[in-house]
Amino acid sequence: MEKGMLDLHSVLRWIIIVLLFVTIYQAFSKNKSLKKSSLWLMICAHTMLGIGLYQLLLGRFGMINKGLPAGTSLMKDSFYRFYWVEHPLLMIVAIVLITMARGKAKAFNYKAAGWLLVTSLIFILVAVPWPFRGSGIGRHLLPGM
Ligand code: HEM
Repeated sequence: MEKGMLDLHSVLRWIIIVLLFVTIYQAFSKNKSLKKSSLWLMICAHTMLGIGLYQLLLGRFGMINKGLPAGTSLMKDSFYRFYWVEHPLLMIVAIVLITMARGKAKAFNYKAAGWLLVTSLIFILVAVPWPFRGSGIGRHLLPGM
């Protein structure tokens, strides 16, 4: 189950990134389908939040079931600082922005939706553990690679 959750979390990242590009294009070209696609994006983002919270609290490095290893200082250890603080915080902000953008899309406020989505995309691109990240943080682009 844990592996399945992690794999889903990894794959959903691509769906969210693609949907962000699609919705940003739709927002700036004032396309009415933004209303529907922003809903799909929000559903994916909230699913990601649920899986992420599960991983953060009960996953392989979960705060509740595993805790911080003895002698580790949270903010001094780059691995735990990334997975317990930076990644969750930046991603939660990104998901809030996606939710706000959905509200703007519903109200046909295309410009506001577009800029919220662009900002969210930047947060996500910064906070994903891309393979080039050091300190054991970087992960594969897809499960099983
Ligand atoms: C759009 C939002 C998010 C994206 C794109 C994203 C992306 C990713 C990716 C690509 C990984 C590596 C997966 C792998 O090893 O195959 C990961 C791991 C992780 N994510 Fe997220 N994430 C998001 C939101 C969140 C949130 C909101 C939380 C927590 C509240 C979270 C917590 C975690 C944790 C704890 C791990 C490490 C899990 C482990 O190695 O066992 N993520 N995330």
